[in-house]
Amino acid sequence: MSKGKIMVIDDEKVMCHLLTDLLKDRGYDVEYALSGKEGLAMARQKSFDVVITDIKMPKLTGLQVITKLKNIDPNTRVIIITAFGNMETAQQSLRLGAYDYITKPFDIGKISFIIKRAVASKELSLTNQKLMRQLKQNNILLEKKVKERTKQLTLLYKTGLEISSSLRLEKVLQNIVKKVSILLDLEICSILLWDSEKEELSIKCAQGLSKDVICNTIIRKGEGISGWVLEKKTPLFIKNVESDERFKKRSHEKYYTRSLISVPLSKEKNVIGVININNKKTKKPFTNDDLALLKEIAIEATIAIENATLYKKLQDTHLRTITALTAAIDAKDHYTCHHSEQVTKYATAIANKMKLSLHEIETIKRASQLHDIGKIGIPDYILTKPGKLTSNEWREVKLHPTRAKDILEPLNYLKKVIKLIKQHHERYDGKGYPGGTRAENIELGARIMAIADSFDAMTSERPYRKKFSLEKAIEELEKNKGTQFDPKIVDVFVNLLNEKPDLVTV
Ligand SMILES: [Fe+2]
Ligand SMILES: [Fe+2]
Repeated sequence: MSKGKIMVIDDEKVMCHLLTDLLKDRGYDVEYALSGKEGLAMARQKSFDVVITDIKMPKLTGLQVITKLKNIDPNTRVIIITAFGNMETAQQSLRLGAYDYITKPFDIGKISFIIKRAVASKELSLTNQKLMRQLKQNNILLEKKVKERTKQLTLLYKTGLEISSSLRLEKVLQNIVKKVSILLDLEICSILLWDSEKEELSIKCAQGLSKDVICNTIIRKGEGISGWVLEKKTPLFIKNVESDERFKKRSHEKYYTRSLISVPLSKEKNVIGVININNKKTKKPFTNDDLALLKEIAIEATIAIENATLYKKLQDTHLRTITALTAAIDAKDHYTCHHSEQVTKYATAIANKMKLSLHEIETIKRASQLHDIGKIGIPDYILTKPGKLTSNEWREVKLHPTRAKDILEPLNYLKKVIKLIKQHHERYDGKGYPGGTRAENIELGARIMAIADSFDAMTSERPYRKKFSLEKAIEELEKNKGTQFDPKIVDVFVNLLNEKPDLVTV
């Protein structure tokens, strides 16, 4: 194998032959040129490790050859041969980029040594350049990675903030699914929560799944992918579910696709559910980075879900106390006994029939349960008075929606409920109280409650009148459509009463 590629440039043919033969004997691959011009033409054709050039030549001198050769290949080592031993010329050649110089008459041993060094120097230089290029490339990759990671962390931080910005469980779950889907560019994302009483997992929030799958997916511990993740308390990253022996036949989950990630929602050893992601919109497969990101989101999500669940439990306890208080008010007067309960039943039935959202239905239900809580401040003799109320007494009664607002206002989570309660005596024509608000300016829930409230009042015994029959009550509702009541809601309720007469026991 050649020790290196050498070119000799000298206008003296004898010198060229001499050097060529000597260096070939020492294992080099050698070519020669009889002028600077010829040498440069050869250098353009192929790469040489070392060029040995005479300094004194006609037309192009050795010094001119150095500069031009460096332009062709800056890595070629150029060695000058001069017959004069002129130090000034030698130094000038070094300044122009020559690797070394030798003087005539020369000794071949010295030339051999310098050439060997020059070839090694070129190789070292090339290796260094290669390493530098790799380093630069690695730096670019690293910088890209740092940028991506910073972007992900910023998004993660924002996601964490948004996930925990609500204390309502449904909202928390929606936020998680929405944020994860955006962050990872997903087609499908779902959250399944564990019901420890029923001992099953069910989908509580999802994107990209059919209603049928959401409603009908029930998974036991250890079953399918989600059940496995729940049981093992460990994340699962499957590149192709069809070729994964563990889940090929076991998976009963109808919504899986070929590539998926499933991560437990857990705090310490307690697993509260599972978050699943399937398919990127770009159709690219999931990566380990996606898994790492989902694991970090799962930590935030678990805390947010636990907080919301705890808050809901506190709210429920609190509400049970207030509801018991309202029932006590109802019970003060045997005529209005179970009134709040009945109003809740009718209002919720109307809201369901109108296909309102679960959250709206829940708000209407709570508002109905508490709608007359403001009566707590009205003296008993007014509430149970058999005869007509005086104007002062009537004024007192009309304060109860506002009083309810004052009582419940400190409870921040009842904001929407309070709004409905305050408007439950408003009329569609604007002649109600306390605000005289009209038509659609009245909250939908309050318009529903107004109908439910009046219907229960009509179909219940009062100290001053007998209760109405169902037909008479419906007639009253129809008569007051567009004045007292929202006509569309009356239609819904009347249809409902015709469909389900059992709803009311008159
Ligand atoms: Fe009322
Ligand atoms: Fe009422």
